[in-house]
Amino acid sequence: MTTSTIQSLMKQMTLNEKIAQLLQLAGPFFKGSTEQGHITGPMAAMPISVENIEHAGSVLGVSGAAEVISIQKKHLENNRLGIPLLFMADIIHGYKTIFPVPLAIACSWDTELAQKSAEIAAKEAAVSGVHVTFAPMVDLVRDPRWGRVMESTGEDPYLNQVFAKAFVNGFQGQDLSNDLQSVAACVKHFAAYGAAEAGRDYNTVDLSERQLRESYLPAYKAALDEGCEMVMTAFNTVDGIPATGNEKLMRSLLREEWGFDGVLISDWGAVKELIPHGVAEDDKEAALKAIKAGVDIEMMTACYVQHLAELVTEGAIEESIIDESVLRILTLKEKLGLFEQPYRGADVELEQQVVSHPDHLQVSRELATKSCVLLKNDNHILPLTSNKNIALIGPFADSGDILGPWSALGVREEAVTLKQAFEKHLPTNQLNVATGCHVETITQQQLEEAVQAASNADVIVVAVGEDSEMSGEAGCRTNIQLPAPQLELLKALATCGKPIITLLFNGRPLDLHGVIEYSDAVLEAWYPGSEGGNALLDLLYGVTIPSGKLTMSFPDNVGQVPVYYNHFNTGRPQGAPDAQERYVSQYLDAPNDPLFPFGFGLSYTQFSYSDLELTSTQLTKDSEITATASVSNIGHFTGEEIVQFYIQDVVGEVVRPLKELKGYQSIILEPGETQQVTFTITEDQLRYHHADLSFKSDNGSFVLYVGTNSKDVLSHSFQLISQGRN
Ligand code: BGC
Repeated sequence: MTTSTIQSLMKQMTLNEKIAQLLQLAGPFFKGSTEQGHITGPMAAMPISVENIEHAGSVLGVSGAAEVISIQKKHLENNRLGIPLLFMADIIHGYKTIFPVPLAIACSWDTELAQKSAEIAAKEAAVSGVHVTFAPMVDLVRDPRWGRVMESTGEDPYLNQVFAKAFVNGFQGQDLSNDLQSVAACVKHFAAYGAAEAGRDYNTVDLSERQLRESYLPAYKAALDEGCEMVMTAFNTVDGIPATGNEKLMRSLLREEWGFDGVLISDWGAVKELIPHGVAEDDKEAALKAIKAGVDIEMMTACYVQHLAELVTEGAIEESIIDESVLRILTLKEKLGLFEQPYRGADVELEQQVVSHPDHLQVSRELATKSCVLLKNDNHILPLTSNKNIALIGPFADSGDILGPWSALGVREEAVTLKQAFEKHLPTNQLNVATGCHVETITQQQLEEAVQAASNADVIVVAVGEDSEMSGEAGCRTNIQLPAPQLELLKALATCGKPIITLLFNGRPLDLHGVIEYSDAVLEAWYPGSEGGNALLDLLYGVTIPSGKLTMSFPDNVGQVPVYYNHFNTGRPQGAPDAQERYVSQYLDAPNDPLFPFGFGLSYTQFSYSDLELTSTQLTKDSEITATASVSNIGHFTGEEIVQFYIQDVVGEVVRPLKELKGYQSIILEPGETQQVTFTITEDQLRYHHADLSFKSDNGSFVLYVGTNSKDVLSHSFQLISQGRN
């Protein structure tokens, strides 16, 4: 079907049929294998007619080849023009094979593996009938109180862009139209959802346009430049107007300035939410604002189907605005081949073979080992040797709740727990397991059992964290410490006088006071996914050496939040932290620096950096500088190091961050080995948004930093000069 055939199809559609294409409903509205949908709760109150459902454009949250085929079949029987449904779902970090949560994946800094994870997720989802995934989420995040930081790749614009591209490529593959193992991607949440005030979900976002363009927008743009088919709006306001009704954001910026002509979908219920936001009087005005802003699909509210026709009749909108949206939606259906193959990749038999394939689980395990971040390892307590007796203690010792939020199709009972993995590795008499406490409660008996188990062991492995309900959507917290019972457990175990290795399972950077002090080693495991236990055993016993690095700062305490590495200086920067100065920008009761900075992560080996040299200290618009640094493995293990390159623009027209990541390189070094790592500096890396928002560079002084994290760096200055001067 070509654009002109789509247009001729549209000519046969009534206005109501067209408007119904803009409606997205959840699975229960449709008759699938159950013959009748089960609509309960708020869904039952939605003013949706049978006709709306028969002509609806898309379905949300349904998967499973049999169910999708059944719904599509019945839909086509009732739809007079034979327009297939689009099936969309949240395939965020895996379909059934669950990968680590996105924030963890980012800590691998491994875009190839990240892409592979998205490719596998797409393959499993596509064979199960899914056409579009609501991913990647590329919201830049600086506030760990916000539960959704686990869905993001962190606080850095550069890294967010490279991961956005990797995920889009992984989901969509090279040929979305013909590759039935791919799914269309939908980048979200446009825009700046991650900047919710006070880290409270759905809250106001108020950013300068410069900050928006400089830090928050690049990742969405990167996803679109990579061909991402869809965009989802955000729940928040942007400059005083909710994103879903924001013409400046959606029409002027997204469509006109960036040229996006794919499908724009609201987030769940976000059109109707224009009313409580206070920018629409009623459903009708909400529909008017959203359609004018350019929102094509209304997810899970009925403002469009209830009011768009009336708005056309009254002349408040032209029918052509609806036609534009319908054309985009039908074009996507056409691109996915649905007119010819309405079931697309859905295949009941193949599904059984593809989903949770051992090869997929193997990739999940590999990615999980690369995603964990070693935060502390005193006296080289890790890696463990297999002759040690282990006490495995804590609410995550034998928990399947390591898949994390957004893993609805992952089976918790099938996830490899730590206990299962240890049991494969150690003889029974070398392993003693105790729960110690629940995530948020503790009993005296649990505590006593834990201390008893610990006293008989050589090493205590403590598995603690947040349960997966404590982060994710609406999972915000003002206290980002471990729940008190778990801190109590750690404190009690510390009295046993045995080395403590703490494994953390959580979806956000935590305030780790109480954890760090009582632990000899701390490994941030995040929610590591289906193969979590195996991956952690690989790391604990040194089969794999930790190489992950944080992509979001871990605050010293929640009072510092937001704390991120690429911040501005003030007019009164803090001097030496112990300088006892008064009128400088600092806290009286806490350091300015986070506990663990962006880019931080230890290995079992040690790396030393030296000899940072530049081929020139002067750069022109047409030249480049090559920076070289030596990195040596001065420890005893072969290890992978993620070498990070940052640049600071010393004087700008507007204030500039103290450091900005501009590139990185992963290298593997044998003990005693040294490698030269090079990085190319070009003028385009030095551009930024000026006072008038023009994007360009300034001549002047810059500093290049290279190091193992954003804080411990070598530095070298250089100048950007006009051509002709040297
Ligand atoms: C979330 C989105 C998600 C959508 C559909 C919303 O509540 O904010 O990220 O894609 O639901 O499930």
